[in-house]
Amino acid sequence: MMSITRQINNRKIGKSPSQLGEQSIPIYGDKATATSETKPLTWRLAHHEAVLDLATYQSLKGFEGLKIALSKSAKEVGTMIKDANVRGRGGAGFNAGLKWTFMTPPDGGPRYLICNADEMEPGTFKDRLLMERLPFQLIEGMIISGYAIGATAGYIFIRGEYIEAAKRLNNALDECRANGLLGDNILGSGYSFDLHVHTGAGRYICGEETALINSLEGRRANPRTKPPFPQISGAWGRPTVVNNVESLNNMSAIMLHGVEWYHGLSEGKSQNPGTKIMGCSGYVNEPGLWEVPFGTTAREIIFDYAKGMKDGRKLKAWLPGGASTDFLTASDEHLDLPMDFEPIMKAGSRLGTCLIMVVDETQDMVALSLNLQKFFARESCGWCTPCRDGLPWGVKTLTALDAGQGQQGDIEVLQQLTKDLWLGKTFCAHAPGAVEPLQSALKYFRNEFDAKVDANSAVVETFAPGGVPSATTVTTYSPKKQSV
Ligand SMILES: Cc1cc2nc3c(=O)[nH]c(=O)nc-3n(C[C@H](O)[C@H](O)[C@H](O)COP(=O)(O)O)c2cc1C
Ligand code: SF4
Repeated sequence: MMSITRQINNRKIGKSPSQLGEQSIPIYGDKATATSETKPLTWRLAHHEAVLDLATYQSLKGFEGLKIALSKSAKEVGTMIKDANVRGRGGAGFNAGLKWTFMTPPDGGPRYLICNADEMEPGTFKDRLLMERLPFQLIEGMIISGYAIGATAGYIFIRGEYIEAAKRLNNALDECRANGLLGDNILGSGYSFDLHVHTGAGRYICGEETALINSLEGRRANPRTKPPFPQISGAWGRPTVVNNVESLNNMSAIMLHGVEWYHGLSEGKSQNPGTKIMGCSGYVNEPGLWEVPFGTTAREIIFDYAKGMKDGRKLKAWLPGGASTDFLTASDEHLDLPMDFEPIMKAGSRLGTCLIMVVDETQDMVALSLNLQKFFARESCGWCTPCRDGLPWGVKTLTALDAGQGQQGDIEVLQQLTKDLWLGKTFCAHAPGAVEPLQSALKYFRNEFDAKVDANSAVVETFAPGGVPSATTVTTYSPKKQSV
């Protein structure tokens, strides 16, 4: 972990404030067979560490998809994307092209496309890879999408710490502008569109699409009530679409190779078309990212791609797609689950961002839950009471448990809290996401929580009426219990 002083100094000299800027993200795969038809999102990286200049990108089929899109009508492009069924890669999995159809029809006023590049979900680093190493691919996807929805301007709302990615995107945008790929009358098509990079201030809630829009407008990043959805009233009250970085990276390849090809990419493993960048982090031998079909199993990701647990440690649990998903276990039933929206949901979790975080046998689930809840409590925007007050209450209870000061009934309080913060009880999905790891830790690893309570129980002698001593377990109440 980098020291705070070093983080501040890094920020001053324009470097990433955290260790992010010093880590490289390995992306492994079969380089020999990676082509635009087999690995549409990452094939260019099989030949280049990164593609950062326009000439190289163009030599690798860059902007060919855009040319095809501009030769069609906007409606035809939108229909192709809807038929391709690009399920949103930001977590919710909604068909991108279908979402576009909910926009208010053009009325001559401004319309916006926003790329959600906030990526603050712990354990998730796929969008960073795409932006740092393939900035032109995102830009091309955004011009195609902007054309389809009739957008007049686009914004890339990027996590503030992604300094290198923002720099590379800005350089790529300048080159595109200088070469007629952005601005007025793109490639002589009559379509005019420009893109802007906007760096966020580093709040998790800015990833929620309406909080993101508020932040972009210069307001406090509270989510907005829905409806109206952004497609009707988004940025500055105008029709707006928000899509994730990875979702937008799919567009150029669909234009190039067509809808049928896109459906075939799942290799019969899934009903969901296309490929997905999946990943693994934690105590594994080779953490990284891989572009694979939906339906690849968790076992394949952890044990084949990430080469299994390090130093012979045993796998205890895993989060399928970021910190706001439910833990699954090391059972065969869970490890053989296809990494796909429906099967993971049926097993009681969510696919989320599809980047697995492993938990090994040495990790304490109470301490781990506390760590995650601290993050979510800190990131609450504070707009609604259950989340603003409920998440710190969970932290307080878990802090006491972890410090050996738990009381009988604490676990039941935590269980009730996960219900009180569930879907429909709060203004946005932050709180329900926050309690997912906690509720599943309580479900699968209750014994570890019980043990913490038991450790704080003392056997004392009490005297029953009639003077016969009996051994009774009572809980000690410590005055040291901290509030947060
Ligand atoms: C608390 C919270 C944080 C979110 N963070 C992100 C994020 O960092 N990136 C992202 O693409 N979507 C994030 N989302 C989902 C977005 O609200 C939205 O669904 C997504 O950007 C839509 O893009 P897609 O349809 O292409 O997936 C978040 C949602 C919530 C509730
Ligand atoms: S659930 Fe939390 S993050 Fe979402 S609006 Fe309420 S207070 Fe804000």
